[in-house]
Amino acid sequence: MDPAGPSPSASDSVDLNEVVLALSDALDLVGVDVVQHGKRVAYMAAATGQASGLSRDDLSDLHLAALLHDAGVSSTRELASILGRFEFEEAADHAGRGASLLARFGPFSRLAEIVRLHHASWDGPESRAAEPGVRLLGNAIFLADRVDALLRAEEGRDVLLRSRSIRRAIAGLATTRFSPRLVEAFLDASAPQAFWLTLEPRHLDRHHVELLGASRPRPAPAGALRSLAGIFAVIVDAKSPFTARHSEGVARLASVLGRLAGLPPEECGLLEIAGLLHDIGKLGVPDEILEKPAPLDEAEFARIEHHTFETWQILRRVAPLREVAGWAADHHESIEGHGYPFRHHDGEIPLQARIVAVADVYQALAQKRPYRGSLPAAEIVGVLRKMAGGGKLDPSLVELLARNVPECHAAATGDPAPPVQPVPPGSTS
Ligand SMILES: [Fe+2]
Ligand SMILES: [Fe+2]
Ligand SMILES: [Fe+2]
Repeated sequence: MDPAGPSPSASDSVDLNEVVLALSDALDLVGVDVVQHGKRVAYMAAATGQASGLSRDDLSDLHLAALLHDAGVSSTRELASILGRFEFEEAADHAGRGASLLARFGPFSRLAEIVRLHHASWDGPESRAAEPGVRLLGNAIFLADRVDALLRAEEGRDVLLRSRSIRRAIAGLATTRFSPRLVEAFLDASAPQAFWLTLEPRHLDRHHVELLGASRPRPAPAGALRSLAGIFAVIVDAKSPFTARHSEGVARLASVLGRLAGLPPEECGLLEIAGLLHDIGKLGVPDEILEKPAPLDEAEFARIEHHTFETWQILRRVAPLREVAGWAADHHESIEGHGYPFRHHDGEIPLQARIVAVADVYQALAQKRPYRGSLPAAEIVGVLRKMAGGGKLDPSLVELLARNVPECHAAATGDPAPPVQPVPPGSTS
């Protein structure tokens, strides 16, 4: 998949700045038609922070926390509602959810506290109780986030015309909602037209790359990619109660199948990451489609077909995940070449991607869906064999799984299952 040859392994040096920027693409997908919410907020918060004289390290924390500020929102419906109005107190649960998720990764503990405050009013008890540095950075995200909500309210008018009323609205909220120091800094930073014109998607991406390039690299500790992938798996799976822990189950099963297929431990670790992140592009699929309790129509299925391409685009931005990006993105390709998004054929689909594909189908069938219950192991193996017979899955991997059902079922679901009789090759239907 990568013309430059094999990618470095996931244990090679990783810059957390690069990983966060890639993962923020995934969070921004939740906006569906709200384009780049996280990046817009991060840009405006950083510009405000800079104008208020923050140190280089505080600015870097503010930038990363702002890119990740809505990590607690996986639902397209919920994000639309948060951005659809200026008052939102009851919607602030997602700030706590996002903070708790980010806190699972040690190096992000300060970012987590900043995210926790991103809907807290400056004069409110939660903000007053916080450590002063965290309080200020959380409030800078709050301010930028609400500017973006105001921008959205007047969509369609020229951004420079909208900027005037927004600057007046923010000025009127100093000391209650927002820190007076930040309001002054925002008014300074947002006076030039260039501040608002940078919000165009084609300018914004470049701006973030430059901003992160100028900040100190953040070398990731060992196991960082696995930890961050675990957090993003939770975010993806939180889209629907039916897919809770799907990615985690796919990851465990893919890693077990990799070992059974003779892959070395390092590669099984990467397979686990591919499993955790295979559906990250699904964050952009509207809730109504994923929750539909009936077969999808043509337009809805077309929307689903976007998700693996998005997965590929997000993961390949992280240098040590370039190869993993291909394994994850190919999980709906079929051996016969009728899958998506690349229409890859047999020889073009790496073994690791075939493993993720088998693990994905197994785990999904072992889980309840809105339109059916969970299937028992023997029945799932029957479905997999049928799919292998129809050229959709790799038959040798399906039989490998069939010979190891108890271990594979436990990996996929956390529950034990009885063995299934192997079927000799050639007798699949
Ligand atoms: Fe938020
Ligand atoms: Fe937000
Ligand atoms: Fe998928």
